[in-house]
Amino acid sequence: MRVLGIETSCDETGVAVYDSQRGLLADCLYSQIEMHAKYGGIVPELASRDHIRKTLPMIREVLALAGTEIKELEGIAYTSGPGLMGALLVGASLGRALAMGLNIPAIGVHHMEGHLLAPMLEADPPQFPFVALLVSGGHTQLVEVKGIGLYRMLGESLDDAAGEAFDKVGKMLGLAYPGGPRVAALAEAGTPGRFTFPRPMTNRPGLEFSFSGLKTAVRNTLAEQAALSASGVVDEQTKADVAIAFEEAVVQTLVIKCRRALEATGMKSLVIAGGVSANQRLRVVLQEMVDKQRSRLFYAQNRFCTDNGAMIAYAGCQRLLAGQHDDLQIITRARWSLESLPPLTVSGSTTASTSASPPAQQ
Ligand code: KG4
Ligand code: ZN
Repeated sequence: MRVLGIETSCDETGVAVYDSQRGLLADCLYSQIEMHAKYGGIVPELASRDHIRKTLPMIREVLALAGTEIKELEGIAYTSGPGLMGALLVGASLGRALAMGLNIPAIGVHHMEGHLLAPMLEADPPQFPFVALLVSGGHTQLVEVKGIGLYRMLGESLDDAAGEAFDKVGKMLGLAYPGGPRVAALAEAGTPGRFTFPRPMTNRPGLEFSFSGLKTAVRNTLAEQAALSASGVVDEQTKADVAIAFEEAVVQTLVIKCRRALEATGMKSLVIAGGVSANQRLRVVLQEMVDKQRSRLFYAQNRFCTDNGAMIAYAGCQRLLAGQHDDLQIITRARWSLESLPPLTVSGSTTASTSASPPAQQ
């Protein structure tokens, strides 16, 4: 089955063509970051308008790159939540309208399920069951994954998401949005151990996260350092030293919780997904931890850690193959629980399968 994937939930327009026999045929990504940068964050209305401008031309482009005629498409998958309502509506309406015109099934995909399944696009994909750490700009969640749609929330952030904390600390350090990759780059010049920040919620049992106190600790340290300096501003080396201490606190916190989740579930595979899973330090420290646990770590290549169309095409394709699809109503959701998703029921199996009968046409 050949599926077009459309991602427009936030500030990236992503489109891709995935074929269940041949794998990913092509993907295109356009980031609006420059447009939002001067506002210091995403302006939802500007995001929606830009998706309107970009999505259709990008669909033409990705079909050409995939060597696929539009009439060869057998399904359409679009992100239907969680995300910015206006932005989601662009991809959902376009996807729905195309599917109707082509008389093929369409399905709304949960953005975090897309992230969670992105490592399946790699040459050595994880096998179910596994523990997934979803770390993006909007979510920090530990999930027990027994198959597609078989999700049990083990713990999540009570306040800021890990990516959000990176972005806010980036702003405090005078870095452009999004702060995550920039804080990580600055941390490379940092002196380990000059500052130490708390590892929130690690000194008591449980798998919940909280990053807002850590953010406050960084703000206080920067204010102290500014007061100590003769010029009243924090010098570049001190900023790098704060960046490395912050990154280490986030990484160690995530690693402690991941180890606990593996122990609690008895699972031997850990999948990390979402923008923060591109963080090199996180990957290195998690790898050391899973090696000690005789477990394995999986993640997507960098471009599929952050938002993209390929993960949506893949996730949608698995559900369409199982006969699932949405009706003609266009539904988008700003909030949407991962646990509420239906499981796959392909020949009694809940794992991805390419042997399902074709989905019903609408
Ligand atoms: O998954 P994603 O593209 O969007 C959401 O679904 O939210 O994640 C974006 C987040 C941003 O907060 C960004 O700062 C963070 O991922 N991020 C990183 C890195 N690359 C992206 N955080 C830390 N280190 C990185 N290398
Ligand atoms: Zn995302």
